[in-house]
Amino acid sequence: MNNASDIYLLGIESSCDDTAAAVVHNGAVLSNVVASQEVHRRYGGVVPEVASRAHQLHLIPVVDAALKEAGITSADLSGVAFTRGPGLIGSLIVGVSFAKALALSHQLPLVEVNHMQAHVLAHFAEPPYPAFPFLCLTVSGGHTQIVLVRSQLDMEVLGETLDDAAGEAFDKTGKMLGLDYPAGPLIDRLASQGEARFPFPKPQVEGLNFSFSGLKTSILYFLRDQVQADPDFIQDNLHDICASVQARIVSILLDKLRQAVEQTGIREVAVAGGVSANSGLRRALNALGAEEGWNIYLPKMEYCTDNAAMIAVTGYYKFLAGQFAGQDATPVARWEI
Ligand code: KG4
Ligand code: ZN
Repeated sequence: MNNASDIYLLGIESSCDDTAAAVVHNGAVLSNVVASQEVHRRYGGVVPEVASRAHQLHLIPVVDAALKEAGITSADLSGVAFTRGPGLIGSLIVGVSFAKALALSHQLPLVEVNHMQAHVLAHFAEPPYPAFPFLCLTVSGGHTQIVLVRSQLDMEVLGETLDDAAGEAFDKTGKMLGLDYPAGPLIDRLASQGEARFPFPKPQVEGLNFSFSGLKTSILYFLRDQVQADPDFIQDNLHDICASVQARIVSILLDKLRQAVEQTGIREVAVAGGVSANSGLRRALNALGAEEGWNIYLPKMEYCTDNAAMIAVTGYYKFLAGQFAGQDATPVARWEI
C-alpha cells in the first residue's frame, strides 16, 4: 500500500511508568495509545522494578492497538522510533529491546529519540506549530527546563532545575497532604476550589535556573507547625493549601519564562511536559501572553503527559535528516538534548 513518499513510523515510549505506542504517517499522527501503570499509586511513587515488569506486560498489546488504530500492519512500517533516554534504565530496556527486535525482523531502520526533545516536538503533532526560534518551558516529573528551539533538531537548554522538577514539587507536596501519586492532577483539581492565601516563599536563583527543594521544605515545616496547633488543619484547608502551592509553582515558572523572553527577545512561547496539563499554569500563561504580546502554544492534553506520538513525530524529523541508530543502540538514564 505504500509508495516511496509514504513514511509510516512507529514510536515507542517506555521511559518511566507509561507504556505507549503511536503511528505517524509523513509526520501526521494516525494513532496514539498509552497504558498507564496504576500499580504505582499504592507505593506513592514509581517503583522501577514494578515499572519494567508492567512495560513487559503492556508493550505488545499497546503496539498492536496503535497499528490497528492506524489501519496498518507492521509490514507497512518504514521505521521504528524509540525513546533511548533519559529515564529509568529498567523501563527503557523494555522499549529499546522491543524496537530493535521489531526492526530486525522486518529489516527496518531504527531512530533513537531523546524524551526531552520529544516533549518539545509534541508541538509538531498538530498545528498550529510555533515559528522558529521559539522558547519552550518543559515541565515534567523529572525535568524543568527552558529550551531555545532553533529548529526541530537544534535545541539549547537555557536554564534548568538545580534540584527537584516542577512535577516532583507537585507530587511530593501531594504526599505530605496524603494524596495519591501522581498528585499533580489532584492538586490541580482541588486548587480550582481554593484560594491561594498561604504565602509560600519564592526561591532566589540566579539566571534562568530553577530550584524547588526550598519550597518543598517550607511546605513541610508549615504543615508540621499548623498540624501541631490543629490536627484537622490539612483536611479543613486542603483546597486553599493546594491553590497556594500551585500558585507559587506557577509563579516560579512564569517569572523565569518572562526573564528568558527579555533575555532572548523571542516572543514565541511554548510549554510542554506533564505539568503543562496544569490548568492554573495554562490560564496564567495565556493571561501573561495576552498582556505581553507573546504567541502562546499549549499542546493538547494527550500530548502533554508521556505519549508515543511525540516520539514518533521526533523520529520522523530525524528519519528525514537521515539520523539512524544501529542494532547496538543502548538505553541511557541521562542524556542532554
Ligand atoms: O511528562 P510526564 O507525563 O512524565 C515525565 O516525563 O515525568 O510528567 C508527569 C508529571 C507528574 O509529576 C505529574 O504529577 C505532573 O506531570 N502532572 C501535573 C498535571 N498532570 C500531570 N502536574 C500539575 N497539574 C496537572 N494537571
Ligand atoms: Zn515525560
